[in-house]
Amino acid sequence: MERKIIYLERTGSTNEDAKRLGAEGAKEGTIVVADCQESGKGRRGRNWVSPPGTNLYFTLLLKPEFAPEQASMLTLIMALSVAQALKQEAAVNPGIKWPNDIVLGQKKVCGMLTELTMEAGRIQSVVIGVGINVYQTEFPEEIRSTATSLALEGAEQMERMDLLNVIMNCFEANYQIFLENGNLSGLKDDYESFLVNRGKEVRVLDPAGEYTGTALGIDDKGELLVKLCDGRIERVYAGEVSVRGIYGYV
Ligand code: BTN
Repeated sequence: MERKIIYLERTGSTNEDAKRLGAEGAKEGTIVVADCQESGKGRRGRNWVSPPGTNLYFTLLLKPEFAPEQASMLTLIMALSVAQALKQEAAVNPGIKWPNDIVLGQKKVCGMLTELTMEAGRIQSVVIGVGINVYQTEFPEEIRSTATSLALEGAEQMERMDLLNVIMNCFEANYQIFLENGNLSGLKDDYESFLVNRGKEVRVLDPAGEYTGTALGIDDKGELLVKLCDGRIERVYAGEVSVRGIYGYV
């Protein structure tokens, strides 16, 4: 993958920028980075508060040739890559809360938003947006009890762009393994080594009804395997999963 970094002092959302560039013909490997975002987007229509001078906000553009169903695995690959990069370079012990939140000290330090653009039944682009709290020490009231930053967790100080480069080194290596297998089989063990859900009681907020069980790990497609109390195993492929003890689920 040829990396092309586009740095913006200020933008609306790097995901929107990457989608637009993708539609205009930008290549896989294009990365939009911004110092601040005026309308940073989180999952489920939430916003991602993105003040200047403190955090890392970037979006990677991919143009994979596979079926749209496979795209959700890319977010797990990015989560793995961020976790590896933080462990290697920032000397912290990150966890992944399935599918893709990065957790430090039981609080969220990084979130991801993946968006797919289709064209004539095929993937035109996949953008993976990543927001990492690096130096931020004050958070808005609504997220104060659940958000943290690398600085607050005593991570090694590093330049935001250096962190981006290490993440991308990890991502490129992982992506290669993924492309060779066509699934997550070659990355599953690494991913699970970071998975905070593993062996824990989880609550699955399924729109068809909430249930609890014990998370066992992931399958080759990245679905979370949850063992119910009657011994059956459910595969969770999307949706919100709360883990006991993390972000306040007690
Ligand atoms: C979440 O809700 O956990 C996902 C947050 C994703 C935030 C990042 S910051 C860079 C990119 N641009 C956006 O507008 N959102 C993502």
